Amino acid sequence: MTGARELHPALLVPPGELHWSRDGIPLLVAETERYFALHGQDWDAELEAMSFGALAYLARYVPSLLAPNAPLRRIVRAALARHVTGEVDLAVELGCAVGADLRTLADAAAHVIGIDGSIAGLRAARTQLAGEPLTVLRRVEGRSFETDDAIELEPVDNVSLALGDALAAPVADAAAGIVLAVNLLDSVAHPLGLVAELDRILAPGGLLLLTSPLSWNESITPAEHALGGGTAQGWAELGTVRGLGELLSGRLPLVPGLGRYALLEEHDVPWTVREHARMVATYDVHVWVARKLATP
Ligand SMILES: C[S@@+](CC[C@H](N)C(=O)[O-])C[C@H]1O[C@@H](n2cnc3c(N)ncnc32)[C@H](O)[C@@H]1O
Repeated sequence: MTGARELHPALLVPPGELHWSRDGIPLLVAETERYFALHGQDWDAELEAMSFGALAYLARYVPSLLAPNAPLRRIVRAALARHVTGEVDLAVELGCAVGADLRTLADAAAHVIGIDGSIAGLRAARTQLAGEPLTVLRRVEGRSFETDDAIELEPVDNVSLALGDALAAPVADAAAGIVLAVNLLDSVAHPLGLVAELDRILAPGGLLLLTSPLSWNESITPAEHALGGGTAQGWAELGTVRGLGELLSGRLPLVPGLGRYALLEEHDVPWTVREHARMVATYDVHVWVARKLATP
């Protein structure tokens, strides 16, 4: 982890006072008061004082750090190894959570920025990237948790973290040579807006890695914004997976101004998330690996 309170030059700072968490994560959202009203409890609290939502989140995602060879992590690592050929100055991950793939990106680029909307996730990411012990929570049932032995991983010194909204990512245009969004597409209100943001921050010639289980939930993504079925003419004809490929290839004009991409690889891989002792979900995640063409 790079030192606290250093902002990478590609990060965009909203107007007004800049807030940092106690452990050095900048808050790069426009409406800070609203943010603190909704999520302030988890900003600087010790683990025991965090909200139930934050604890459940940590129990769900911290275990990904214990499984670096899970199929999805291996696909991300292999795709980067195959397609990152020269030097890459900056890689950006939106929806980085606790940072399972930030470690992989840190080997592929000189510097990495990880953005997420969850301070619980970012604080866990900061701890593990600093090589400090990170508590592993296991949700038993309801609101009860147990702790397992803490994990302690090798420190990584070329990653910066920031709290931001992936739909208005606090990253400069064309700043990154690699952009990653692993299982974020169906976690946002406006998936095509996310595709536009990923495209905006990726430099021409850069590599896009996008993965999603496409498991839409109307309480997160309004039905009219979900990708697939009858939500748009293109999705009705092609379905989501092929439709998204056509969108990236420039043959489905649903996002004005979107760059054009050469699709390099696609995969379907399982991704397992444990919610609590009585619920473990396995998704079938689709992976798109694409190169942004130098000329649209
Ligand atoms: C399904 S999780 C996937 C996390 C991680 N990439 C992985 O594969 O384990 C989605 C992540 O996206 C984050 N997220 C959801 N909506 C977001 C938004 N609008 N802006 C930033 N992060 C967001 C969540 O906090 C969560 O960490």
